[in-house]
Amino acid sequence: MNAPKPFPLNAWYAAAWSYEIARELSARTICGQNVVLYRRTDGLVAALEDACWHRLLPLSLGHLKGDDVMCGYHGLVFNSAGRCSYMPAQNTINPSACVRDYPVAERRRLVWLWPGDPALADPAKFQIFIGTTAQNGSATAARSISGNPVIA
Ligand code: FES
Repeated sequence: MNAPKPFPLNAWYAAAWSYEIARELSARTICGQNVVLYRRTDGLVAALEDACWHRLLPLSLGHLKGDDVMCGYHGLVFNSAGRCSYMPAQNTINPSACVRDYPVAERRRLVWLWPGDPALADPAKFQIFIGTTAQNGSATAARSISGNPVIA
């Protein structure tokens, strides 16, 4: 029996159309990873692991509180970098209370997400070239990639 091949993680993946990501929580699964996307008040898109640090409830079932996400279960709040910024009934915040944040970039009306090593994600190298190159004149789009790989 063939085991499923792992996803190449160090690449940009089309996660959503830009218009789909607004001031609300939007769940996606990218390369088998559950992610919650939302647009911050400054217009940038944030992407967090869609599992609360506390009991793994999907954060997408919570709600936005400013630029942060409040878990719908016990009310922990995570900022757009994934750090817990509020714990109900706690004077101090456990420093390990965080969820993964993902690099994101918006290009060509799409939101792209990097599910791999964040140190390798470089939006400055992100370029997509789309053109009609079919010799028979059909509207086939061809993509060539420079810098970070993209997968749409
Ligand atoms: S599961 Fe999120 S705060 Fe408890």
